[in-house]
Amino acid sequence: MTAHPRVVGVCGSLRENSSTRIVLEHALTAAKAAGAETALLDLREYDLPLYDGDDKDAGDAPALRADVREADGLLLGTPIYHGSVSSTLKTALDYCGSDEFEEKPVGLVTVAGGRFPTPSLLHLRTICVWLRAHPLSHQVGIPNVSSTIEHGELVDEKARERTETLGETVVEHARLFAGETVCVR
Ligand SMILES: Cc1cc2nc3c(=O)[nH]c(=O)nc-3n(C[C@H](O)[C@H](O)[C@H](O)COP(=O)(O)O)c2cc1C
Repeated sequence: MTAHPRVVGVCGSLRENSSTRIVLEHALTAAKAAGAETALLDLREYDLPLYDGDDKDAGDAPALRADVREADGLLLGTPIYHGSVSSTLKTALDYCGSDEFEEKPVGLVTVAGGRFPTPSLLHLRTICVWLRAHPLSHQVGIPNVSSTIEHGELVDEKARERTETLGETVVEHARLFAGETVCVR
């Protein structure tokens, strides 16, 4: 890996004006400013049928796996759905495995309509551990999305800062795992 680790975001909402995507893009912008090459994998552009264990190469699953494998670090974002991660993100992750995630730092993002975004972060953290990745302790849970994101922008200053720190921390850890000497928060 070069001094410019590749950080890839995956958004678990397919909505055109997804607030989760807005937060992930903010984190990716911070990762880029910290020296990373960045990309947002837009799951609307992948044909990913509901996972069938008899057909793990269905649709664009091989392309998704290849794109995730290229990453040195990831940012995973999900809206909270019924207290957990969205089926969109879970389906994408079900097509992946430790070949794609092992030993990679992962920054977690969730966005909630309500006041309590914690469960989806915990569930996503567990999934990452099972994928043998390293979910970062710093994470971003955005509550009350209607007052935190307005006109396509994160308007809450603390949420902006927290999200930027997440993007920067993924880059720091990607460098650390590559054996570079860095100062890690
Ligand atoms: C099926 C469904 C379940 C939801 N469950 C919850 C929930 O358990 N807690 C909550 O705070 N918001 C819940 N919401 C609201 C979403 O988390 C919220 O609208 C989120 O911002 C959507 O993200 P997006 O804009 O990226 O699609 C739910 C929404 C849907 C459609």
